[in-house]
Amino acid sequence: DWNSENVIETQVARIREQVGSARVIAGLSGGVDSAVAAAIVHRAVGDQLTCVFVDHGLLRQGEREQVERDYVAATGIRLITVDAAEVFLRELDGVTDPEQKRKIIGREFIRAFERTQAELVAEAAAEGAEPVKFLVQGTLYPDVVESGGGTGTANIKSHHNVGGLPEDLEFELVEPLRTLFKDEVRAIGRELGLPEEIVARQPFPGPGLGIRIVGAVNHERLETLRAADAIAREELTAAGLDGEIWQCPVVLLADVRSVGVQGDGRTYGHPIVLRPVSSEDAMTADWTRVPYDVLARISNRITNEVREVNRVVLDVTSKPPGTIEWE
Ligand code: XMP
Repeated sequence: DWNSENVIETQVARIREQVGSARVIAGLSGGVDSAVAAAIVHRAVGDQLTCVFVDHGLLRQGEREQVERDYVAATGIRLITVDAAEVFLRELDGVTDPEQKRKIIGREFIRAFERTQAELVAEAAAEGAEPVKFLVQGTLYPDVVESGGGTGTANIKSHHNVGGLPEDLEFELVEPLRTLFKDEVRAIGRELGLPEEIVARQPFPGPGLGIRIVGAVNHERLETLRAADAIAREELTAAGLDGEIWQCPVVLLADVRSVGVQGDGRTYGHPIVLRPVSSEDAMTADWTRVPYDVLARISNRITNEVREVNRVVLDVTSKPPGTIEWE
């Protein structure tokens, strides 16, 4: 029967057999799947593995540190962080259409990753080391079923997953999570000693905060959203609501302004939308009945602590008809 130690042992043996003495690359997204997949591969082949983390500048507060500091401390994995924020911001300059944003972010992500991949291949060759032949992917069982099953569900938004990488014929895939469900992946992550912030992380879209700013993305708006999002997450966690909430997008309506009053002055700032949802699988969702006092605390703190924001609103739409994300 199922237990995480058995699964890890079986996968470690399988990976050793598949990979041999070749080198392996894994992309990390900050999410649980890619983190656990890489950690199992590391357990199997140690320093033959190099992880690549593309910082696209659209991450939430603290996420890069969780990967660079906590994850590396827990695993001892060799990690290369690619600082790509400037490139992403330049390419996103003035873009407001959600699909366009997704395309640009997906494209730049692949570019940044492939550049690093090529560098690692060249590095191995220059050292006369074993070649890089494998790519790790955190594919789960539901992903396998969904892509093979042809369920006929309409593709409403072009999903881009930061853990998901381009098909590359030169590389063979290593997919240690292919038979597992999400809660099993979390159990394995805990068994491997990964940080709880990563293991328990709620879903977060690959394009990150880029699709939570309604309007064009820029540095200042990202700072505003990051601050508001950090407050909302902190208060929801403190209120013990993480188990009940599937995820809570925090959205900046950057193209909307409303009049407010703060201190002895009139303000003309932006609204922040809270979108807490309860769901089993993100296909359908209901808005979570977050207690009023928790909402009040979040609202007070955001309007007091985040300069550009003078109004906090709650999204009370289920899915359908609303999607979970606003873009
Ligand atoms: P929607 O907004 O379609 O979201 O109801 C359903 C789930 O998918 C996540 N999401 C994404 N995940 N890349 C991802 O990796 C994307 O482009 C993307 N768009 C939405 C969303 O956060 C929710 O969990």
